[in-house]
Amino acid sequence: MSTFYLTTPIYYVNARPHLGHACTTIMADAMCRYRRLRGDRVYFLTGTDEHGERIAQVAAAAGKSPQAYADEIAAAFRETWRRLGITNDDFIRTTEPRHKKIVQEVLQRLYDAGEIYFGEYGGWYCFGCERFYTEKEIVDGKCPDHQTALTFIKEKNYFFKMSKYQAWLIKHLEDNPDFIQPDRYRNEVLGFLREPLQDLSISRPTSRLEWGIPLPFDDKYVTYVWFDALLNYYSAVASGGEKTRGLWEHVEHLIGKDILKPHGVYWPTMLKAAGIPLYRHLHVHGYWSLGGSKMSKSVGNVVEAFQLTDKYGHDAFRYFLLREMNFGLDASFSEEALVDRLNADLANDLGNLASRASTLIAATGPVAQVTAPAEAADREIATAAAEARATLEQAMEEFAFQKALGGIWAFIGAVNRYVDASAPWALAKDAAKRPRLERVLCTLADALGFLGVVLEPFLPDAAGKIREALGAKGPLTLDAAVVGRLASVPAVRKISGLFPRVDTKASVPAAARDGAKGEGSERVTGKIPITDFQKVELRVAEVLAAERVPKSKKLLKLSIQVGEETRTLVAGVAEAYEPAALVGRKVVIVANLEPATLMGVESNGMVLAASHEGTVSLLTLDKDVPSGSKVK
Ligand code: MSP
Repeated sequence: MSTFYLTTPIYYVNARPHLGHACTTIMADAMCRYRRLRGDRVYFLTGTDEHGERIAQVAAAAGKSPQAYADEIAAAFRETWRRLGITNDDFIRTTEPRHKKIVQEVLQRLYDAGEIYFGEYGGWYCFGCERFYTEKEIVDGKCPDHQTALTFIKEKNYFFKMSKYQAWLIKHLEDNPDFIQPDRYRNEVLGFLREPLQDLSISRPTSRLEWGIPLPFDDKYVTYVWFDALLNYYSAVASGGEKTRGLWEHVEHLIGKDILKPHGVYWPTMLKAAGIPLYRHLHVHGYWSLGGSKMSKSVGNVVEAFQLTDKYGHDAFRYFLLREMNFGLDASFSEEALVDRLNADLANDLGNLASRASTLIAATGPVAQVTAPAEAADREIATAAAEARATLEQAMEEFAFQKALGGIWAFIGAVNRYVDASAPWALAKDAAKRPRLERVLCTLADALGFLGVVLEPFLPDAAGKIREALGAKGPLTLDAAVVGRLASVPAVRKISGLFPRVDTKASVPAAARDGAKGEGSERVTGKIPITDFQKVELRVAEVLAAERVPKSKKLLKLSIQVGEETRTLVAGVAEAYEPAALVGRKVVIVANLEPATLMGVESNGMVLAASHEGTVSLLTLDKDVPSGSKVK
């Protein structure tokens, strides 16, 4: 059993929880739930960062004491995480005695060891970031982050000899390529370190700021908020006790890219100087933007965006954040894209599968022992499950939630196709096919059971409902996520309305869409991962017969051959092609579309055609290949 101690940043209490905070906390939660599934000892820490000038200022503006203000917002964070089903083991506040004690101990230790000295420094300061900026970092005389004017401050302060650790840190990063992940952020830190590293001012005079932890060796100063805040990760587990024993050596941090420098430079040098073992890994994710502009606490719509959790459900919101962001890169948030994902992936792919499969199984009832052997199609589902699990395990090593979900959705696609191809509703009509029907239902129950486990980190509510419908007993573990061992059909309750479809026109007012693009605008998230494309099954089909659909100018009813299978398909090409001209031709179809009825004719698939200013041109092949061949 390995030990896994994961932290989120501790969030400032100058703003209520918003989408950005939720993103990191949800990622951490998904990871911790996954590691628990693996059977690891997991400890998950989050909390609030409560000292510093910024908090003192907002509290004063609200006419409250900093402590009263911090109490209120810290409670809002706690409550938000509870509501979202976040499974943190601890919630640390930097105003707690357990934290202050450790901060003072570490400061004293560093002071005694000569790692801290008293000196004077003048520089350009951003009150928003609570840090000095070097000439190189300043953009147009302003803070690069807040785009606000900087203030020149010259004062006497205590300094930590950070510069002394520059060469050591460079070597550590070179020797431990996975210390900071993904690579781009490791390179960014190495980039900072190409410039001479300054010593770090770790105090603020009480004449200017009282809201902080007093320096143990000079009560006219309080601790600089970053020096205080970073130590939360350690103070939460260093205070002893059985629950936290042996955790520190396993600590990994998850942060957004905005706070890379304190975590990638200050923190390891602080730990090194204090003789505390370094963290194992720093995982850095990108930033969400809303309509192209970077989100920050000053932008009210991040809070508004966060309210979508209630509108569309926690699982849908969580799924969107995890699926849409490529770990390490920035992503764009919009209600429209969220609804697209909800409708396509959750309602259509997963919701329909859960509903169809559970309804079919429930209609036949339990079977103690399935006698028909597994056929190739059943074995393919077992293989697809093994592949999804392998992708999941590999992706989660890198915090690549998007990849993990892509793998699971490839599996869901395979099972949906399996349902279509094995047509259990048709098998049920023929008593002679009962053994095969039972085998198909067994495979489906097995597949649902698999999803009930592997979806747990990402869609905890939905996964719970699936497990409940299957009457799943026993411990929830990743080891149980195997398809192909089940030889019975369990009693299953119908799963309905797992993810109801959202009517896009009615639910997303144009103004709420990203970038306020108008009705019918393209998805703003742009590129899709290959796994999305892989869900579309394109195949070569041969037209066996074609006729007009009565009373329709546009539609042709085609009988087509796809490999062994013959099916009926309706194509909107009647204005461009005479039926007879199509017979014998090979075309390309989308083979895994849900059936749709057009002018009373059921269509099973879609023929691909290009169109331009009224010209319609069917996609055909420039060399002959058999019908049923895959197109990719
Ligand atoms: N208090 C410091 C962190 C101290 S950690 C020892 C702080 N707090 S914060 O409230 O500003 O939170 C910053 C973090 O919130 C980011 O690192 C990230 O985890 C999350 N996010 C805030 N806005 C975000 C986005 N727009 N997009 C993604 N994550 C964002 O900095």
